[in-house]
Amino acid sequence: MCGIVGFLGQHEAAPMLVDALRRLEYRGYDSAGIATVNAGVLNRRRAVGKLVNLQDLLVHDPLAGKAGIGHTRWATHGAPTLTNTHPHQAGRVAVVHNGIIENFRDLRSELGALGIDHHTETDTETVALLAEHYLDGGLAPVEAAMRTIGRLEGAYALCFLFEGEDDLLIAARKGSPLAIGHGTGEMFVGSDAIALAPMTDRITYLEEGDIAIIARDTLEIRDATGELANREVKHIQIDAAQVDKGGHKHFMAKEIAEQPTVLTSALNYYLDETGITLPDPGLDFARIERLTMVACGTAYFACLTAKYWFEQLAGIPVEVDVASEFRYREPPIAPGTVALFVSQSGETADTLAALRYCRDKADRIVSVVNVAESSIARESDLPLPILAGAEIGVASTKAFTCQLGVLITLALKAARDKGRIDDTELATHLTALRGLPGLMNIALDQADRTRALARKLAEARDILFLGRGPMYALAHEGALKLKEISYIHAEAYASGELKHGPIALVDKTVPVIVMAPTDALFDKTVSNMQEVMARGGKVLLITDRKGADQAAEGVWNTLILPEVDPLLAPILYAIPAQQLAYFTAVAKGTDVDQPRNLAKSVTVE
Ligand code: F6R
Repeated sequence: MCGIVGFLGQHEAAPMLVDALRRLEYRGYDSAGIATVNAGVLNRRRAVGKLVNLQDLLVHDPLAGKAGIGHTRWATHGAPTLTNTHPHQAGRVAVVHNGIIENFRDLRSELGALGIDHHTETDTETVALLAEHYLDGGLAPVEAAMRTIGRLEGAYALCFLFEGEDDLLIAARKGSPLAIGHGTGEMFVGSDAIALAPMTDRITYLEEGDIAIIARDTLEIRDATGELANREVKHIQIDAAQVDKGGHKHFMAKEIAEQPTVLTSALNYYLDETGITLPDPGLDFARIERLTMVACGTAYFACLTAKYWFEQLAGIPVEVDVASEFRYREPPIAPGTVALFVSQSGETADTLAALRYCRDKADRIVSVVNVAESSIARESDLPLPILAGAEIGVASTKAFTCQLGVLITLALKAARDKGRIDDTELATHLTALRGLPGLMNIALDQADRTRALARKLAEARDILFLGRGPMYALAHEGALKLKEISYIHAEAYASGELKHGPIALVDKTVPVIVMAPTDALFDKTVSNMQEVMARGGKVLLITDRKGADQAAEGVWNTLILPEVDPLLAPILYAIPAQQLAYFTAVAKGTDVDQPRNLAKSVTVE
């Protein structure tokens, strides 16, 4: 979603704001803009498209001032035009905003009735006009902003800048994250701490409903009731290198390559000589009767994979749903249920709403998150970090495999707690799990072959992915990855389901990617693959050496992976799925890290 920054400092604001926006651009790249106050005068520069367009504009038309706000936009209300680009200004007020003001139509009519017209289609302009209206009524900037914020319904992060106020920013958080950075005689605002990483490591996270009144040397925070609030200043460790491409052409390539390393860190966090240890307050699966797992997109496919693990290993029934459906279908939550939410960002609006729905209904709220300070982590009884590090590529890769790493660890613990496996079996699985990053490195080494195959896939209009069992869930992730960055239409089917309809799609122009490690279902998957080939289907078989020896005859191509404990195959096979998508997108020349229409961290429903 949109990214917000703010700066009050000793130096020129514009370069600082643009630099911070560069680190937030993954949140939206439809347009970008900044506003500053210089000797009391409010001014702004805005440009449609990527941030680079704003940078070009600033070269020709610079903006002076040591106080400012900035925004990178993922359009919600109104097309990505210059008029709709943030910051929005109404007289003496400029505002940047992430989220949706749900009652903006009512406020618009109210302002219209007072003769105050809008010039944009956005809900944000309404906020600026309302604040300006309160200034006109004689309120001081702080009071005008607070009165305005009090009128807003919906989910938002906001930052206000005022004409005549060189030492004032007002920031507000409700439903969208916002961090305040502390410098020496300088203060920063950012949608996340990553944006502020090179400038400061001292961060205050605003809580729901907080309003921050920020000056260079003071920070006053008022909570949702208007009372003064004391919020901790945390020392965070974000290595600025995490937000660089580290010599790779794209963040996605870097993040694919990082997977063995980050998965090792995640596993080290949960595994020790004695077995599996969860952070306090822990979780005893012996007393858990069922799991409800909820997430969106890639995180949902991680849940779908884990359903097989929890059910088969631990005998725990699992319900899995996409958050946008779950939250509105009012599902009954039976006693003995643990509700488990998976989210890289920890801020996905639908997943957060689903968590809140379960709050008083489930026995425990557990989350598997990448961002430790996120709303989902903070509202969980047991947040479990995946420790993937900052994921900047819009298409999730390393977060997915780390989510799976944490979920398989949980499923193994559940199996042990339920007495379904003994210590020896657990130790065998854990040894295989510890060896997984090594196998991932071997899989990554197939890059040249994958690149060559991807060049052929890039010519296709439609691609099918097939798998059985947990590989069916992975087939979905492979299809999602491919469509979101290469824009090729891709669908996933359970191999056994194909002949119930989708096989009608198969002809020689449709590549069919079959994910088939030699597990208990291998022969059945191969039979389904034969049905495809009998109809002229062009099969790419992803399997191990044994599988290729048994079944590769007649296929269009194979990709051979190392043999792996079948339980862990979805994690290993994620690598070729990601690489195929990546190289296909590169072959097509699409924008890998910032694919069209997408943004990371979807904080609107
Ligand atoms: C796809 C992708 C998205 C996210 C989804 C949930 O590559 O990244 O499908 O997985 O938007 O996001 P989080 O995990 O942040 O809740």
